[in-house]
Amino acid sequence: MSGPDLLAPEALERARDEALAAFTAAPTLESLAAARTAHIGDRSAVARARKAIGSLPGTEKADAGKRVNVAASAVQEAFEQRKRALEQERDQRVLLEEAVDVTVLPPRRRGARHPLTTLSERVADVFVAMGWEVAEGPEVEHEWFNFDALNFGGDHPAREMQDTLFVEPAGSGLVLRTHTSPVQVRSMLDRELPIYVICPGRVYRADALDATHSPVFAQVEGLVVDEGITMAHLRGTLDHLAVALFGSVGDGKGIRTRIRPNYFPFTEPSAEMDLQCFACRGASAQPGGEPCRVCSSEGWIEWGGCGMVNPTVLVACGIDPERYSGFAFGMGLDRTLMFRHDLHDIRDIYEGDLRFTSALGSEV
Ligand code: PHE
Repeated sequence: MSGPDLLAPEALERARDEALAAFTAAPTLESLAAARTAHIGDRSAVARARKAIGSLPGTEKADAGKRVNVAASAVQEAFEQRKRALEQERDQRVLLEEAVDVTVLPPRRRGARHPLTTLSERVADVFVAMGWEVAEGPEVEHEWFNFDALNFGGDHPAREMQDTLFVEPAGSGLVLRTHTSPVQVRSMLDRELPIYVICPGRVYRADALDATHSPVFAQVEGLVVDEGITMAHLRGTLDHLAVALFGSVGDGKGIRTRIRPNYFPFTEPSAEMDLQCFACRGASAQPGGEPCRVCSSEGWIEWGGCGMVNPTVLVACGIDPERYSGFAFGMGLDRTLMFRHDLHDIRDIYEGDLRFTSALGSEV
């Protein structure tokens, strides 16, 4: 189409209508931009018509110019409208697609306390329910509390009985406590009589780490000092704890404890205490009994030490042994946790592997 033909009213109307149709049909901003080049750009029919005005005779220029302007602004207006509509569509879509639900909580693992902690608290609860108090002492302890006051003589072989970790420098007099028994001494020095205390805590010995030994482990110590305390009270207390932790199995009778003579410098008489095997209830040790893996068919499991507080210790703590007597016991909490949950390796308790703690540690 030559210049003047482009300026014909029908030609301009057609150019306008084609532009409008192209804009309406453009589904995206990109295709609209392409349609704009085709219908508004320098090579579009309207732009070429505008250029052709120059070649018209002077009298026709004004009319032609008006027609071109009308067509051009209709095209421009249609383009703007479509552009606004497509932009709005895009904004809506982006809002939906990129929406973030701020009310959704991030996935969170629930923390849980360590099984040793929950067991220690459970033991403490058993005693607190009977009116006892929980006592604590330092883990870096003076030798006097850890040994001397407990009647371990200076060169007493019992000092070597427990492989002690000494705190530097040599001669500091400080050790990592080898048992919770120094808390007996601290309790007797600090508290009013009578004394009923339970002391759970961490203890240390120079043991190599293997399936049944750890240089750090947990004990729980019990101490009673009152008038008229006998070994019968000790037995009754141990049986009560055993039933509270291991229950009455099968026959409805509570699980039992047994004590065997032993030696500790701070108790006299002293005893080793065993817990009836909660798995076979002692049946494996009877003639013809099925073998038991838990107690190696002994019928009993070693649980800890106990005895009547040695009068020498009472005197060292300023208590009149003529008037007062007492009992003490101490057992391994790790061991208790191990046989209570059928664990075979003490390292599992201390390695902090979540597969271990989360399996056992959801208890609160
Ligand atoms: N302290 C002893 C130990 O660690 C256990 C014990 C506690 C013995 C209290 C008697 C009385 O082996």
